[in-house]
Amino acid sequence: MTKTILITGTTGQVGHELKTLLEQSNPNHQLLTPNRQHLDLTRLNEVKQYLREKQPNLILNAAAYTAVDQAETDRETATLLNTQLPELFATYCQAHGAQLVHYSTDYVYNGTGTKPWQETDPTEPLNHYGQTKLEGDLAIQQNCTNYLILRTSWVYSNRGKNFLNTMLRLAQERTELSIVNDQHGAPTPASYIAQTTLELLNIQAPSGIYHLAAAGETTWLGFAEAIFKRVEGQTPELDRTQTQHYPTPAKRPLNSRLNLAKIEQALGKTTPHWEDLLQQTLKDRQP
Ligand SMILES: NC(=O)c1ccc[n+]([C@@H]2O[C@H](COP(=O)([O-])OP(=O)(O)OC[C@H]3O[C@@H](n4cnc5c(N)ncnc54)[C@H](OP(=O)(O)O)[C@@H]3O)[C@@H](O)[C@H]2O)c1
Repeated sequence: MTKTILITGTTGQVGHELKTLLEQSNPNHQLLTPNRQHLDLTRLNEVKQYLREKQPNLILNAAAYTAVDQAETDRETATLLNTQLPELFATYCQAHGAQLVHYSTDYVYNGTGTKPWQETDPTEPLNHYGQTKLEGDLAIQQNCTNYLILRTSWVYSNRGKNFLNTMLRLAQERTELSIVNDQHGAPTPASYIAQTTLELLNIQAPSGIYHLAAAGETTWLGFAEAIFKRVEGQTPELDRTQTQHYPTPAKRPLNSRLNLAKIEQALGKTTPHWEDLLQQTLKDRQP
């Protein structure tokens, strides 16, 4: 059966990778990949109309309001994109027998302790971005039965705005960088997220929340060191700092470790280590 698949956020990190993979692997499927100019996702009535016209069987919602600090002040837009939009998608999917895949975040947890979070752990976001993402997850669970909520962390890719690209740019501009060393998590490439999403769909993984991140853990400083170890050129001096000395409008969790047992069990395999995924991502980087 030909499927109609809507991918949102295809100019972003994860959405772009999903689009690329699906274009390569599923020539029979109809892909809908509207960008912001075609469909502004904050205009919920227009989104409803779009769904009515196009009738997708599968929605891969990689669009989000991801400017974490800006979300503290631009609350309404963050809520529209991160809560109301997934709710609308969930309601559509339930009414039309469609499936929803949605991306969420480690920021739904409060960052205490050192244990990797499990999907069943209590949530307590520290900032408005995390709150809007959590409310999006809850709205999906309340309105839809056929869904995957994939909570990921520290997303990067060779394109777009992310830590990897920021480090490589700053290395051209500065000889010294100060980087926080007390937030713990696993840097996760967008390409790995996209590929694993398709694997979950292929095996028809049961509806629910899954942690989808690279294995292992590091800090932002550790991530920077791993990047500069692998790229040629001038390496800036890296100084360690602490989150409390680097104030930002939105509070960040210190513990973003995600327990991967559930997704590993579903897929029947272990997750690659973040350093191996970094190596692969840098290998794929265009000169
Ligand atoms: N980045 C991370 O470190 C991280 C960590 C944990 C979870 N996540 C989650 O993972 C998912 C994917 O993140 P990402 O890093 O791939 O995001 P991203 O690169 O910031 O991309 C966001 C996408 O949403 C689109 N978008 C935003 N507002 C829109 C609007 N009004 N109308 C239409 N499109 C709009 C953007 O379009 P424009 O290009 O036009 O702005 C872009 O394509 C999100 O759900 C995010 O919350 C991300």
